[in-house]
Amino acid sequence: MGEAQTAVEKENLRRYILRLRDRQSIGEVEQKSQDTTDQVLHLHEYVRARGIACYVNKDTEVDTRVLIRTALDQGKRVLVPVVKKGDVELFFSEIKDLGKELAPGTFGILEPKQEFVRPVSLDEVDVIFVPGIVWDREGYRLGWGRGYFDRAIKKLPPHVRSAGLAFNLQLITRVPRDQFDVPVDMVVTESRVIRCHK
Ligand SMILES: Nc1ncnc2c1ncn2[C@@H]1O[C@H](COP(=O)(O)OP(=O)(O)OP(=O)(O)O)[C@@H](O)[C@H]1O
Ligand SMILES: [Mg+2]
Repeated sequence: MGEAQTAVEKENLRRYILRLRDRQSIGEVEQKSQDTTDQVLHLHEYVRARGIACYVNKDTEVDTRVLIRTALDQGKRVLVPVVKKGDVELFFSEIKDLGKELAPGTFGILEPKQEFVRPVSLDEVDVIFVPGIVWDREGYRLGWGRGYFDRAIKKLPPHVRSAGLAFNLQLITRVPRDQFDVPVDMVVTESRVIRCHK
C-alpha cells in the first residue's frame, strides 16, 4: 500500500477512535485514567526509574497529572515535551511543580512557561510515556499526524523504555504502518499492560 493510501486510512481511524474517546463522560475518563496510572505506578520500569518523560494530557487523553505529581513526590526527575512553533522536533523540559509552571503552548497543550523552561536530554530518563489516538498490541500508534513522537521515539537513547498510555477503546487490531513509524515497548491501559515484542 502506498503512503497516500495509508494516510487516508490513518486519518479515518483517528476520526473514528477520537469520536469514541470523546464520547466518554468526565467521570469515566477520570476513573480509567486513575486505573491506568495505578498500572503504571506498579511497572518495574517506572519503580526503578530515576527520571521519566511524560506528556501532559489534553482533552480526553489519559490524564497524566496524578502520575506526574506522584513521580515528583517520589523524587524522580520529570520532563515534559515542548513544541516550538515551526520546529518538527520536540524538546523536553524538566518540571518541578505541576501547579504553577505550565501554560498552554503551541497546540494548546500545557507546557512550561518561558521562565520555567529547563531543557534536559532524554538521556536523563528511564521511561517515556507517549500519548496517542489509536494503538495496537504491537505498539504501533497514531497521534495527531505531525510525526513529533515518531521522530522522538526513533531517537531515544537505547536505555529508555517507551510506554503508550491509552484507554482500551483506543486499541485496534492493526494500525496502518509507514516506513517512519516506530512502535513503543509497551501499551498501558486501564486494565492491562501489553508488552510489545519486536
Ligand atoms: N523520522 C521521521 N523523519 C521525518 N519525517 C517523519 C518522521 N516520522 C514521521 N515523519 C513525518 O510525519 C508525518 C506524520 O506521520 P504520521 O501520520 O505517522 O503521524 P503520527 O504518528 O500520527 O503523529 P505524531 O507522532 O505527531 O503523533 C508523516 O507525513 C511523515 O512524513
Ligand atoms: Mg506515526
